[in-house]
Amino acid sequence: MSRIVYVNGDYIREEDAKISVFDRGFLFADGVYEVSAVIGGKLVDNAAHLKRLARSLSELKMGCPVPLEDIPAIQRRVLDENAVEEGMLYLQISRGVADRDFNFPAQENPSLVMFTQTRSITDNPKAAKGLRVASQPDIRWARRDIKTVQLLAQSLAKQAAYEAGADDAWMVEEGFVTEGSSNNAFIVTADGTLITRQLGNDILHGITRRAVLEIAAEQGLTVEERPFTLAEAQGAAEAFSTSASAFVMPVVSIDDKTISQGVPGPVTQKLRERYIAIARETAE
Ligand code: PDD
Repeated sequence: MSRIVYVNGDYIREEDAKISVFDRGFLFADGVYEVSAVIGGKLVDNAAHLKRLARSLSELKMGCPVPLEDIPAIQRRVLDENAVEEGMLYLQISRGVADRDFNFPAQENPSLVMFTQTRSITDNPKAAKGLRVASQPDIRWARRDIKTVQLLAQSLAKQAAYEAGADDAWMVEEGFVTEGSSNNAFIVTADGTLITRQLGNDILHGITRRAVLEIAAEQGLTVEERPFTLAEAQGAAEAFSTSASAFVMPVVSIDDKTISQGVPGPVTQKLRERYIAIARETAE
């Protein structure tokens, strides 16, 4: 079925949607994006996604084509036009069309695009089974905190993981796990401590990560925000990843090492259940 997508003010059928070959998103990956989850037809934690969007734009000195406060109404209409009950809303801003030149155009004309993807997130069978992940070198640039559309390193890592028989990639730099190909990485130690890498320029500041840390505090878990090695992850009691597109997703093996019994762990499952309950309650 053809979707209705949003392109710079118009709500049009996806086959009619066009972007110029001179769009800087296409030529330079000069664009930023956000993926917000949809549950029950409503957006999960959308205000936090829009706040991160504003930060990404500001870090790249890129303008927003519409006032930021007008974006939720556009998102609402895109969801309604497509009657999305569960899935994702993708939003991208690029620096827009200009003749090819490394310098920014003098007259900036940023472009805004949105589309939906219908998909079951809460009832994903992979959540019951858990993911097998493969480690891959993290070859990305030094500003991974900016959510840019330059995703080739992540795409290569994920593809290599698939070709190695895994479901996803965890990226590793100097022996330490940075994050997953499109998610943040967590482990749980034998004594129940939750560990995830601290925020910095080397990982994306995940919106789901933050929500999960709030739930962990509510559940009385001890949390350490610090780097962990691949070996520490492989020897952990539990492991999982977090993202808007999969929420809390158990990890049951890393490379050739099975995590504990090779099934989703209890801490992970409890965090996932609570995350979904809160997401349902607070989506808007
Ligand atoms: N990816 N780290 C990376 C590299 C990501 O691409 C993502 C999200 C995350 C998790 O962030 P959040 O919890 O805000 O979704 C962490 C999205 C879902 C994507 O590219 O499809």
